[in-house]
Order: sequence, then C-alpha cells, then structure tokens
Amino acid sequence: MPVAKFWNFLDKKQAYECLTECPALLAWFDSLGLQVREISFTVYNETVKTHPHTDAPPVIAKINFPVVNTEDTYNVWFNNEDEEIDRVQCITPIVLRSNVKHTVEIGNTAKFPRIQVSFCFYNEPLKYLE
Ligand SMILES: [Fe+2]
Repeated sequence: MPVAKFWNFLDKKQAYECLTECPALLAWFDSLGLQVREISFTVYNETVKTHPHTDAPPVIAKINFPVVNTEDTYNVWFNNEDEEIDRVQCITPIVLRSNVKHTVEIGNTAKFPRIQVSFCFYNEPLKYLE
C-alpha cells in the first residue's frame, strides 16, 4: 500500500503490539521512567516530504529512531530568522526538540523510502534537551 503522508500514526492496537513485540525497547523506556503516549512512522520519499515547521503542542521532546535509509538525511533546526542553528544526521536515536522550527533535509546520496519511528511520551524527556 503506498504511503501518502509524512506522519503515519499507529492506532492503540498497533502501538501495543509494537511495544510488546519489542521488550528491550519497552524495558529501556521503563528504565527512563517514560510512558509512551503515541507512536508514529515518518516517511519521506519522492512524493512525500516535509518542510520547516513546528510540531503541534503539547509535545516538545520526541525520541526518534532510524528505521531504514536515514543515512545522508538530516534533522535541521532554524531560528526565527529562518537561519540554520543546528543539524544532526539521522543515523542514531535522538531526543528531538519539536517546538523549534525544524525539517528533514535529504542529501544527494540518500535512498528512499526514508523511514524513522517517533515516540511521544506523557512525561516528556525534557532533561535531555538541556
Ligand atoms: Fe516535526
């Protein structure tokens, strides 16, 4: 089935299956005291893209994991003057600050589809953004 959207949210049943089928991940979140609020897959390909934006509140700190084809792709953040202030290649898990304008940029050697999985929490891991 073709993916038509950048954000693809798991429903409650899918989210439960995702966590119960990944006990190490659930144990890691538990060890950090994090309660998962929502799970989604972000997809970037030839036709599905994202542009500089600020995520909808209330979530500020999301944990993203690379799934496939994240080499030479980047999370990039901007200040109020639309100047780049930070970037990170999406090849390791990160705590992503989503309340500052950001986007995904694609390098010349990136492959599609580029997929990440993104976790939001009821109790956000804000301390990792300090
Ligand atoms: Fe975002």
